[in-house]
Amino acid sequence: MATAEAYRRFAEREAAGRSPAYEALALGVAGDDRLLAWLEELPAAKRQPNLLFAAARWLLDDVPDLVALRGLVAQRSADLRAMVLGRSTQTNEPARCATLLPALARYEPPLGLVEVGASAGLCLLPDCYSYDFGGLRLDGMDPGGPLIECRVEGPCPLPLAVPEVAWRAGLDLSPLDVSSDDDVRWLACLVWPGEENRLERLRQALEVARRTPPGVVRGDLVHDLQALVAGAPEVGTMVVFHSAVLAYVTPEGRRTFIETVSGLPVRWLSNESPGVLEKTGADLSHGFALIEDGRTLLAETDPHGTWLRWLAPSA
Ligand SMILES: C[S@@+](CC[C@H](N)C(=O)[O-])C[C@H]1O[C@@H](n2cnc3c(N)ncnc32)[C@H](O)[C@@H]1O
Repeated sequence: MATAEAYRRFAEREAAGRSPAYEALALGVAGDDRLLAWLEELPAAKRQPNLLFAAARWLLDDVPDLVALRGLVAQRSADLRAMVLGRSTQTNEPARCATLLPALARYEPPLGLVEVGASAGLCLLPDCYSYDFGGLRLDGMDPGGPLIECRVEGPCPLPLAVPEVAWRAGLDLSPLDVSSDDDVRWLACLVWPGEENRLERLRQALEVARRTPPGVVRGDLVHDLQALVAGAPEVGTMVVFHSAVLAYVTPEGRRTFIETVSGLPVRWLSNESPGVLEKTGADLSHGFALIEDGRTLLAETDPHGTWLRWLAPSA
């Protein structure tokens, strides 16, 4: 059954080594006929482990184990279904800024940033956070922002300062509001057990976003990017970027987006699973492929921003 296989794959390829609790839970779901039957009644896009586990966590106010999850499905099926249908996986990982920063810092400042699939917009604040690239420390503009540690391999052109950002805007089908208690709680539910350090970083980044609102508007990256860019002011370099988004877009929508962004007067950074942009970066095995302008593979990056392996020539 495809759902059982998806949960097994999630356990073995995504949760293993990162979240023992979710690894065990996903394997448990994969072997539980009742839970699988419950999942099969949901639309296919709503059967993901991340979504189910975060929804259960919200309702239980605790990390679910298999017994608790079975209990929820048996006793609060309607509540769980409503949570899963009403929310989506909008994990917003500010540490991804560390893996974007060396690429961004090569462009002529000041930068204009447009993030598509921005969630709450926490990746739109790369100039506000501080960084530690294997001992090289960069201070961000917001002293209360998180310090993001990132291990670097390869001839990476590390910047000496965070790039200046003159303008920023995000686009999301369903933007999360950093001043909404419910949205903030949902973001916390999406952080995996075993990765509690991400929670503190999330809390600090949310505070930064309240002081410097990233400005995420509701819209579809397939249809609304052009208008957003057209309304931007003149800057040194306008950059459109995205991470962990295109997998949620249909192949046709992706083609339209690629055509649109390729025709705009912008630089374009795609930080996505290998192979999402046709064959570019498809042979990477561990991380995301950071691709510039749809053509040049710059780096392999940790999906949670803790390391990057620079692959392009440094000049
Ligand atoms: C997994 S989150 C990633 C958030 C952020 N890019 C990051 O790296 O932390 C994916 C986001 O993409 C948004 N999304 C999915 N399809 C979209 C579309 N067609 N247009 C705009 N946003 C979309 C979702 O609503 C969600 O907030």
